[in-house]
Amino acid sequence: MSVRRGGHPALRDIGIDIPRGAITGLLGPSGCGKTTLLRTIVGTQSHVSGQVDVLGRPAGSPELRGLVGYVTQAASVYEDLTVAQNVHYFATIFGTKDAVSESIAAVGLDDKADAQASDLSGGQRSRVSLACALVSRPQVLILDEPTVGLDPVLRADLWRRFRRLADDGVTLLVSSHVMDEAEQCDNLILMREGGLVAELTPDELRARTGHNNLEKAFLALIEAGGQ
Ligand SMILES: Nc1ncnc2c1ncn2[C@@H]1O[C@H](COP(=O)(O)OP(=O)(O)OP(=O)(O)O)[C@@H](O)[C@H]1O
Ligand SMILES: [Mg+2]
Repeated sequence: MSVRRGGHPALRDIGIDIPRGAITGLLGPSGCGKTTLLRTIVGTQSHVSGQVDVLGRPAGSPELRGLVGYVTQAASVYEDLTVAQNVHYFATIFGTKDAVSESIAAVGLDDKADAQASDLSGGQRSRVSLACALVSRPQVLILDEPTVGLDPVLRADLWRRFRRLADDGVTLLVSSHVMDEAEQCDNLILMREGGLVAELTPDELRARTGHNNLEKAFLALIEAGGQ
């Protein structure tokens, strides 16, 4: 599929398969089209040509709404509600009120449950967004740079949580700038300037480039033109 944004091509001839029950990392430089690709899969992107199917249905189908969770790059929380109220709101929509506490605990915000969202730090707000996405217990979880602004302990914590979700059969697609996070993924989609550079596992990336360090490997692949 391809996407035009602002009259220019933002994604060009992308053909990928994202395996179920695994963590797929989406990596590439700023402006290469990561958010556009995620929006296309969620079904919120216009000017898409080609075909995008999610769980066997066209992306954006109404039946997918409760099955696909999306955490946008900028935290989207209601500032005038508390953490618990934000999560409770989404739980009410999806009929999963029993999942409110577990979702807040999952992002390490139990002690902030009654804090107003406007009083939270940037990293804490992102985690409220994540809790709101987790509360519907989605089968597909689309996360746009979910660990930006988080400290190393919390990042490691979240990646353990992502792994547990994948072990439970959830399909995760996680964008990142940080190549050390690529290590945590089962598969990688590497992009550059709206195009697909490669779709492979971290070990395949190392083998193909001869670099053990994934950042160096990605750079080597880009310099080689993705071949
Ligand atoms: N609202 C918009 N209108 C027009 N063009 C846009 C819009 N948003 C993004 N673009 C363009 O689409 C291309 C891809 O942007 P996108 O946001 O998908 O990149 P990204 O890889 O997510 O970048 P980042 O890592 O900085 O978040 C860029 O060239 C950008 O200029
Ligand atoms: Mg982006």
